[in-house]
Amino acid sequence: MSKLQAKYKRVTTHSLLEMKRNREKISMLTAYDYTLAKIIDDGGVDVILVGDSASNVMAGHETTLPITLDQMIYHASSVVRAVNRALIVVDMPFGSYQGNSKKALSSAIRIMKESGGHSVKVEGGSEIIESISRILSAGIPVMGHLGLTPQSIYKFGTYTVRAKENEEAKKLLEDAKLLEKAGCFALVLEKVPAKLAKKIANSITIPVIGIGAGHEVDGQVLVLHDMIGMNHEFNPRFLRRYLNLYNDITSAVKNYVSDVKSTDFPNEKEQY
Ligand code: KIV
Repeated sequence: MSKLQAKYKRVTTHSLLEMKRNREKISMLTAYDYTLAKIIDDGGVDVILVGDSASNVMAGHETTLPITLDQMIYHASSVVRAVNRALIVVDMPFGSYQGNSKKALSSAIRIMKESGGHSVKVEGGSEIIESISRILSAGIPVMGHLGLTPQSIYKFGTYTVRAKENEEAKKLLEDAKLLEKAGCFALVLEKVPAKLAKKIANSITIPVIGIGAGHEVDGQVLVLHDMIGMNHEFNPRFLRRYLNLYNDITSAVKNYVSDVKSTDFPNEKEQY
């Protein structure tokens, strides 16, 4: 862990603002369970996102839409039990906050009370501003998420780069300013042109954490299972793989199966 990382014994929403002001980049990864959350917290990541990508990664759904509030609370509480340093952000699942700000507040309160997470994340700008304001009014920190917002995949039709056209880019910048004004402590910007991401990061005082948004933002987020190569089918341009665990685990399993079949495992030292 670097000296700068050690400075933040426990990362808070305020530490993230300070990091932006000090031009220290923010690192964020997803986790959905106790064991991996403990490893990445020990590794010094600043923010752990209990992402609704658990719907894809943990449950094998095609989209993030099916995951429920109860399931997000289950994942988040497992992560909370593991983490000592990182700030924990919990995704509010599809259907738990859109279109009804009272429901949004009660969903956010359930997440905070039942999981022990430190903040929530929601997808969208002006369309959900009433929900964001109501959640914030209860003292719950909110992270925004703009650009490619996977909960709206059926509206977009594809997972390609967003805001390439001027009109959408303009709306994105307006939404980022709106979220800052409403009181969000940070926002995720997913799959937008790097030039636009830089402009947005320079136009607001809250940290902008990018995924597929270039390096001139205030931090980066990746889905842990992608970054450690747990699958080999998902290969977007923005993904850097730091491990190839799909291959490592497959070959470990092959070796185990072969050792069991040949009675090489367990040997005399491995029995009572
Ligand atoms: O759910 C998730 O994993 C996310 C990240 C891709 C930012 O929202």
